[in-house]
Amino acid sequence: MADTTNTSTMYVPKFVWLFGCCCFCFVLCTPTTSAWQQHSSRIRSSYGPSIVALFSSSTSSSLFTHQSSIRHRRCRAFFSQSNDNDPTDDDNNSPDNGPIIIDGKKTAKDIRAELSEEIKNLQRGHGTTPGLAVVLVGQRVDSATYVRMKKKAAAEIGIHSIDVTIDENISEEDLIKEVQKLNDDPQVHGILVQLPLPSHIDEAKVLKTIQYEKDADGFDATNIGNMWLRGGEPPLAIPCTPAGCIELLQRYNIEISGKECVVLGRSNIVGMPVAALLTSCNGTVTVCHSRTKNIPEIVGRADIVIAAIGKTEFVRGEWLKPGAVVVDVGINDKPDATKKRGYRLVGDVNYDEALPKVSAITPVPGGVGPMTIAMLMKNTVNLCRHSLGLPRLQLRDRTKDGDYKDRKLVNTNVPSPKKEEKKEGEEKTTC
Ligand code: GUN
Repeated sequence: MADTTNTSTMYVPKFVWLFGCCCFCFVLCTPTTSAWQQHSSRIRSSYGPSIVALFSSSTSSSLFTHQSSIRHRRCRAFFSQSNDNDPTDDDNNSPDNGPIIIDGKKTAKDIRAELSEEIKNLQRGHGTTPGLAVVLVGQRVDSATYVRMKKKAAAEIGIHSIDVTIDENISEEDLIKEVQKLNDDPQVHGILVQLPLPSHIDEAKVLKTIQYEKDADGFDATNIGNMWLRGGEPPLAIPCTPAGCIELLQRYNIEISGKECVVLGRSNIVGMPVAALLTSCNGTVTVCHSRTKNIPEIVGRADIVIAAIGKTEFVRGEWLKPGAVVVDVGINDKPDATKKRGYRLVGDVNYDEALPKVSAITPVPGGVGPMTIAMLMKNTVNLCRHSLGLPRLQLRDRTKDGDYKDRKLVNTNVPSPKKEEKKEGEEKTTC
């Protein structure tokens, strides 16, 4: 029998030598680590992961910093067609690789670009521009900022936005009348009433006034119910922040199916709907709230942690299971004398403590935040599509084998069936 081990170590083809020399020269000609990083980051963005892998495996071991390693993994995850990068997979959890920093800002930008094309299709194919009405009651600074950002995002991708700014002292009855007017306006496909409302107004009553077909937030009981049901009608819209969390996991090829998912918080806006979506994606979900005992212990079991509890840096690094994925929904002010404004934004997770433990994490800011607005835009486009008898754009498309497919938007110039069809062998889920 031939001794293949011996042969392979002795024989080195000429091209390998040549390649080795090129790499050696390349390293010698690269004056600083940061110059290398700039160069390699250009390569990454231009040529994708295969070339990056080639360069990084041949020359980078001593030059790559922790940060560039983080960026490298992020890039691989974006291009991958398989789940090789699933960081919750034990084989991918080498601490040497560094955690993936999930880039919500870039992902949201990608989604907005995709939606912009979809909106052009709707205009060309159907002569319809999606319309979103945003209702702001009062002058809360945070609400006014969110509303401004929502309107800006809408304008940038070609959604027609209808601005309804109302005095804080409006009566509940008059606010309901305003919402009814929007229900009757054919140019309005989606209605969002920014929460919280002033304390004299019953939020649930106002939200109930929004017609189901125009519920841009996905808060309507029918949408929420359909999100929980197995095999029922899919919801017309999905609550935006939870949808953004799932979209981030999916776009980074982080498998949910079969994973232990722990949700911190049970709000109607985030905790409850994200638990429904994770369940729909076949995760095993535990929801923790103010009455839950042993939260650190429960968090310690999680492959995926969704933190939406609204408490500054509540989750400590030591609670986390090594290799866990953390999606931090929190946005909290933390006093910081080094900042001009005297504070900085932090999440519900202690980021610095979590970083050495996790395989992937969303930063604050720049993680889930931008995704909320992108998903609101997606809901608006979907409600417009529904008004035209077109199927909604799914949170994810799956092949028969359950893998995520490359996301392709439906060509709306082609007549589509009114109802979403269940493909053979595919289980119908919300996502
Ligand atoms: N206030 C904070 N988040 C939200 C949201 O997602 N929708 C609405 N309508 N109000 C909010």
